[in-house]
Amino acid sequence: MKSAVVYYSYSGNTHRVAQLIIDLLKNKGEEATPIRIRPLKEETSFIMQCREAFLGKKPELYRTLLDLKDFDRVIIGSPVWAFKPAPAINSYLNECSSLEGKTAILFVTYGSGAGKDKALQVMKKGLEAKGARVQAMTSLQQAESAKECRDQISKLL
Ligand SMILES: Cc1cc2nc3c(=O)[nH]c(=O)nc-3n(C[C@H](O)[C@H](O)[C@H](O)COP(=O)(O)O)c2cc1C
Repeated sequence: MKSAVVYYSYSGNTHRVAQLIIDLLKNKGEEATPIRIRPLKEETSFIMQCREAFLGKKPELYRTLLDLKDFDRVIIGSPVWAFKPAPAINSYLNECSSLEGKTAILFVTYGSGAGKDKALQVMKKGLEAKGARVQAMTSLQQAESAKECRDQISKLL
């Protein structure tokens, strides 16, 4: 099983979870390729970040791997921003190759938890529009310990 672990992280929480996932997969003897995405112009003001996310914007991304045909599964992670995924995720789902025949697992990291399920639904819709079959979704609070995250994630893999 070859997985692409596609994620955006602004302040590191989603990155930590993505790393955990990659470690868990590698320990199972599976291949996992990290694809960390970034917008060319990173918004740094909280208000602008919320605005862009809420409006479902699709910023231009730094050059990244968009062709996912060599992977069996896509694992995709985002922070929750204003009840939505971070805008870079919208761009990636818009631009990546078809996911027909592939499975997907989604995760979000969050603070208060407001809008976490809505953000997952937006991502699920984007993946299904690309043809992926969403197998599992989960959300992880930003302060959860590595052990808690590992326990939660390992149930899905
Ligand atoms: C612009 C912005 C908007 C956010 N909106 C929400 C939100 O609507 N609901 C929530 O539970 N957390 C919200 N958060 C908290 C983040 O989802 C949380 O800190 C997340 O783990 C950050 O991930 P990162 O460190 O990978 O960037 C927001 C954070 C930022 C910066």
